[in-house]
Amino acid sequence: MAVLRFPDFGEMNQNESDIRSTLAEMSIDYERWSLDRVPADSSADAVLAAYADEIAQMKQRGGYVTADVIDVNSSTPNLEVMLARFDKEHTHDEDEVRFILAGRGIFFLHIGDRVASVEVGPGDMLRVPRGTTHWFTLCEDRRIRAIRWFQDTSGWTPHYTDSGVDRGYQPLCFGPAYLGSRVETKINLNA
Ligand SMILES: [Fe+2]
Repeated sequence: MAVLRFPDFGEMNQNESDIRSTLAEMSIDYERWSLDRVPADSSADAVLAAYADEIAQMKQRGGYVTADVIDVNSSTPNLEVMLARFDKEHTHDEDEVRFILAGRGIFFLHIGDRVASVEVGPGDMLRVPRGTTHWFTLCEDRRIRAIRWFQDTSGWTPHYTDSGVDRGYQPLCFGPAYLGSRVETKINLNA
């Protein structure tokens, strides 16, 4: 389940339909998909086979030609270098489409004069249209497994805005794996 925040306003929402409608107003698609197709430890090929229908439908929706499974964790070589490519505000020439199978991460979406933080976790599908200014990072456990769709893998190169806006936001995670000490932070934010 996702967590939608507008950090500048101290707003946080974990209601699925609220998140869907708020993001839809920002031209961002958010959906909840079933996770019960395959065991969590299935191979990438098994995941792609199990979600073949969803993958084909999404290809049709967005003109995507290929899909793969990205799988990283804290022991992935050069993980921090990889993350550093995407944790600064950027755009792409194609949509960024993710269905999260495991782990958690945060998309910051800078749309108009507002910045939204969308923490995504297992079962969340997010589609960020091409040209949207955004940045992304993982939660503290540095784990994400997701299906990705591409129109052209070369289009996924980040174009940095160098705005510095990203430096004003802390990548705080509040989702199910982050209850406990984070609850205190959450209360402070809403105070
Ligand atoms: Fe991106």
